[in-house]
Amino acid sequence: MTTLPRNPGWKLLAMLALFLAVMVWYSISREDRYIELFYFPAPGKREPCLQGEAEKMVSKLFGNYSREQPFFLQLKDYFWVKTPSLYELPYGTKGSEDLLLRVLAITSYSIPESIQSLKCRRCVVVGNGHRLRNSSLGEAINKYDVVIRLNSAPVAGYEQDVGSKTTMRLFYPESAHFNPKVEDNPDTLLVLVAFKAMDFHWIESILSDKKRVRKGFWKQPPLIWDVNPKQIRILNPFYMEIAADKLLSLPIQQPHKIKQKPTTGLLAITLALHLCDLVHIAGFGYPDAHQKKQSIHYYEYITLKSMMWSGHNVSQEALAIKRMLEIGAVKNLTYF
Ligand SMILES: *[C@@H]1O[C@H](CO)[C@@H](O)[C@H](O)[C@H]1NC(C)=O
Ligand SMILES: *[C@@H]1O[C@H](CO)[C@@H](O)[C@H](O)[C@H]1NC(C)=O
Ligand SMILES: *[C@@H]1O[C@H](CO)[C@@H](O)[C@H](O)[C@H]1NC(C)=O
Ligand SMILES: *[C@@H]1O[C@H](CO)[C@@H](O)[C@H](O)[C@H]1NC(C)=O
Repeated sequence: MTTLPRNPGWKLLAMLALFLAVMVWYSISREDRYIELFYFPAPGKREPCLQGEAEKMVSKLFGNYSREQPFFLQLKDYFWVKTPSLYELPYGTKGSEDLLLRVLAITSYSIPESIQSLKCRRCVVVGNGHRLRNSSLGEAINKYDVVIRLNSAPVAGYEQDVGSKTTMRLFYPESAHFNPKVEDNPDTLLVLVAFKAMDFHWIESILSDKKRVRKGFWKQPPLIWDVNPKQIRILNPFYMEIAADKLLSLPIQQPHKIKQKPTTGLLAITLALHLCDLVHIAGFGYPDAHQKKQSIHYYEYITLKSMMWSGHNVSQEALAIKRMLEIGAVKNLTYF
């Protein structure tokens, strides 16, 4: 009987070949993962991005939801096939369908090709917190693929600290006191977060130049708002629902007025975790309770006291964000 000479060199070569093949496959299929494997931090380099990373965190935080929920509401869901919603605003569209239909007829729902086509989406959610003051984060913020801003947060005059790029801005009528032509880019998506049916009424009256409605808001929204209807999107209330339910354990079906609801900031993080592969946050967090005179925003002087009747529980939200930081779902660019 003869045995073939066993040459350990063959084994080694075969393994090397296999390793090389895997490398090549990686570089073709996932450009960003390849970069990650050979990543050496260098000044000015962008964060490595791992495709699907946030998605894994999403199931940890929100349970087994798929990414199939659209980000923005679209006409066909309310026109051709009426999609029944379980909840009323802000967690669903039950009872507001007719108003919504009129708004969806004049706005859009698409996600820009520049975001769609990215293999790996690096996102930053820029909060309005005072911690952005003198942070010099502007340049770093501008480098993300998607920059999400909140409410009336100004950019003009604060570029050094908050950057100038805005991919999306989440707002509601009472927080729409900013000039989109000054604070946003021509292609910024202005994402309406609807809390009540009147919010659809307001956006319709602004975009179609109909008679303005003045009653039914807790603060007068702008009566004139210079914006291109093609920039407007209507956020799917699903994201408000899961932020309230899964992150804050708030009751979704409340018999009368909604007493507590997530802030736009927490909502934006929820959206980003579903839209992006990597989510960083900057300018989140409030001063400690004993710092009564400390401002909470980077652009105006208002204190924690103003949050008292806002319907937001900031300490509970802080716990939710801490948890997201702990499990690595998001990373903070400013102290949290
Ligand atoms: C969620 O999905 C994952 C993978 O599909 C599965 O392993 C896990 O058990 C599911 N969790 C729940 C709570 O259904
Ligand atoms: C920001 O920097 C300026 C100039 O150095 C300083 O006067 C100001 O107090 C700083 N503001 C904060 C909030 O640190
Ligand atoms: C806010 O959340 C904290 C922490 O979960 C809780 O202890 C507190 O009772 C809540 N406050 C209100 C007004 O619900
Ligand atoms: C993130 O927050 C932690 C505290 O929670 C802080 O130690 C760390 O410095 C922060 N990271 C940055 C980049 O500010």
